[in-house]
Amino acid sequence: MFDGRRWVVTAGPTYEPIDPVRFIGNFSSGKMGYALAAALAEQGADVQLISGPTCLQPPAGVERIAVMTAREMLNACQEAVEKARGLIMAAAVADFRPQTAAAQKVKKQPGQAVWTLELVPNPDILQALACRKRPDQIFIGFSLETHDGEHYALEKLRRKKLDAIVLNHPYEKGGIGADDNEVTVLYPDGGRHFISYRPKQEAARAIVAELARRFSSE
Ligand code: C5P
Repeated sequence: MFDGRRWVVTAGPTYEPIDPVRFIGNFSSGKMGYALAAALAEQGADVQLISGPTCLQPPAGVERIAVMTAREMLNACQEAVEKARGLIMAAAVADFRPQTAAAQKVKKQPGQAVWTLELVPNPDILQALACRKRPDQIFIGFSLETHDGEHYALEKLRRKKLDAIVLNHPYEKGGIGADDNEVTVLYPDGGRHFISYRPKQEAARAIVAELARRFSSE
């Protein structure tokens, strides 16, 4: 299911501009998504890595498409997913963006005590893609929460109509920005596969091996 097949992986944060010099973002480093792209390429997949801003180099043999905002990521995913066997959404997409991005740098006013930003929701990329998903395609999401991780991961699995969701846990150990991670892959039928704490490259290989075990007969 990987050899010669197109897989799309998203990674990193999105940056949502406030003005030409400021943005709303998050602490995602992109390491997990880049490690997954590398692990899929090791299995012979033709990987497109749709990446928000990161300091990372694309893995060997992986095509990187650089994006900045959630809406750019959605557009890139819509195009890339057409020909794909699977999609792994490891990106930490910003849930909200400033309603308008100012054309010029917003100046602070003398004595200004508060700056209120109006935020509007970004599109949910997985949910937007779900309605055009073909039966032969596999869509995998990621979930990271500070509390009640499994409860929220299962809710996202159902709402976003995913084939599996990778739950990062616990928040204090690994996860966003860290070099190591501990995850559980959860399936809609209640199946689960725990991957103990290890470097993200190893965690990525274990996730890819688990996906092969679960889906290779489909
Ligand atoms: O809802 P939450 O952001 O926690 O869901 C996590 C999963 O949904 C991740 O796979 C993330 O990449 C994806 N996501 C998305 N579009 C968004 C927000 C998150 O596809 N706007």
